Amino acid sequence: MIERLPPDPRMIALPVELRNAIARALDDIPATRWMNTARTLSEQYRALDDIGEAPAIRTRLDALGYAALLMPATYAQLYGAMKAAAERIPSWTPETMLDMGSGPGTALWAATVCWPSLRDLTAWEREPVLIALGRDFTRASTNPALRNARWVQRTLQAPTERGIRFDLVVLGHVLGEIPFDERSAVVTTAWRITRGLLLIVEPGTPVGFAAVRAARDLLLADGAHTIAPCTHDRPCPLINDWCHFPQRLRRPEFQRRARDAPSPWEDAKYSYAALARFPPERPVWGRVIREPTFNKAYAEVLISSRDGVLRHRALKRDREAFKWVKHLEWGQTLEEQP
Ligand SMILES: C[S@@+](CC[C@H](N)C(=O)[O-])C[C@H]1O[C@@H](n2cnc3c(N)ncnc32)[C@H](O)[C@@H]1O
Repeated sequence: MIERLPPDPRMIALPVELRNAIARALDDIPATRWMNTARTLSEQYRALDDIGEAPAIRTRLDALGYAALLMPATYAQLYGAMKAAAERIPSWTPETMLDMGSGPGTALWAATVCWPSLRDLTAWEREPVLIALGRDFTRASTNPALRNARWVQRTLQAPTERGIRFDLVVLGHVLGEIPFDERSAVVTTAWRITRGLLLIVEPGTPVGFAAVRAARDLLLADGAHTIAPCTHDRPCPLINDWCHFPQRLRRPEFQRRARDAPSPWEDAKYSYAALARFPPERPVWGRVIREPTFNKAYAEVLISSRDGVLRHRALKRDREAFKWVKHLEWGQTLEEQP
């Protein structure tokens, strides 16, 4: 049963075809088995920042656990980052895409929603069980690009074929799983095979942000242009803080069961950098990088802008300005300084 929720323009849902494909695959296994596996995997991913070792996904059951509990949230995060990038480059119509460390193909689904021009999709993934499950999902799609996606088993450290290029390349929730001393090489390879836009997404944690920031610094030095979230091409000026954004997601029923969560929605938080071979078509002055706060005296918002990171405050007695700040959305762009 789909629960009625009040209309919320921030809310997204998994594509119906993907949701149904996951639900069908879960039907083949007793619910307690996939739920237990999903919960164990989720705990292991939560500990990743501390222990630095990603969980192994080696069996079909592991892969199903990932699809049930983690894929909806990573889909939401990838979608949020892609949508923010697409808004800055509305005329860009990519045709080819590579999903690096694709898992079950999460980024392929999000990208085909954000850029319907995509017609040729490739996924590189190390684990055969994730490839098999991801292929089952994409074959269930009515979109020929998804149905005909090319799945390649390989590691991201392996040498790439000469001359291959993709309009869109995605590193989604994978940099954190690459040993620290191998990350720069993976990012440099990803950039070398990017014809248009490289999107890097990590969980919205201090560790996830640090991985994104290091990758962005590396690519700025190589001439990359920032499409989002930053509104400039200078190194990030944040100190003792991390830049991250929420994407609201209506939880599919299987995810709620696996999480044992009563809430029908969640805000999936992510850090990201969208870097391109071209500058943004629609540059902006700044972006809201935290939920606005307010009290009896004033409303306040943190903005990352071309003039640095600044705190903008509106006094309550200035009613219009107060209301404007209070209702700004986390992640929203601002054309000019308020
Ligand atoms: C957290 S999952 C993310 C999957 C997917 N991109 C998403 O956002 O849902 C990380 C994926 O990267 C893959 N991976 C990790 N290290 C890899 C490597 N060195 N080469 C290829 N794939 C790798 C893992 O097998 C796993 O599928």
